[in-house]
Amino acid sequence: MSLSIRPFRIADAPALLALFRDTIRRVNSRDYSPEQITAWASDEIDEAAWASRFEGRFVAVAEADGRIAGFGELEPNGHIDRFFVSADHQGLGIGRALLEAIEVEARRIGLRQLDADVSLTAVPFFERRGFETRSPQIVTLRGVEFHNVKMTRALDG
Ligand SMILES: CC(C)(COP(=O)(O)OP(=O)(O)OC[C@H]1O[C@@H](n2cnc3c(N)ncnc32)[C@H](O)[C@@H]1OP(=O)(O)O)[C@@H](O)C(=O)NCCC(=O)NCCS
Repeated sequence: MSLSIRPFRIADAPALLALFRDTIRRVNSRDYSPEQITAWASDEIDEAAWASRFEGRFVAVAEADGRIAGFGELEPNGHIDRFFVSADHQGLGIGRALLEAIEVEARRIGLRQLDADVSLTAVPFFERRGFETRSPQIVTLRGVEFHNVKMTRALDG
């Protein structure tokens, strides 16, 4: 597999939304109920609003053999928001490459810490990458409750 990480382009947004929904339905469905999956990967997500959230953020897009295979998003305050690898490319090192790109950018802009509200599915990945659990949380999305975990990682050194 040939893997490259490149900056987000606005034209990527429809493909990233499709990947987001597909990964939630096929991967996160291991850890969340059908009701939660329906709410999270909702057909009612407004594509323009979903795409506009990328504005002002660092977004790394992974391409595997020339096809979009994942993306990760860093807010200027160090919060990692959407972070997804395609269901067809799990466990191939793409998440690691995306997180490394985020870490390089975070250091470049002088951040001291990264944080994320991590899905139950992704906790082992973030632990492996040096994140520590701060607190389990319950969030509400489209009227449905979800458990996730606040995790942080210091960027000293
Ligand atoms: C979490 C996610 C992004 C990881 O991406 P990935 O490309 O499959 O992960 P990688 O192949 O880069 O794995 C990196 C390391 O984490 C480890 N890892 C990844 N998932 C793991 C799991 N479920 N259990 C244990 N270890 C895991 C790998 O073994 C690897 O270890 P290594 O560095 O020693 O080789 C991916 O599983 C995903 O998209 N999950 C669903 C979406 C999601 O929940 N996103 C997070 C929202 S907060």
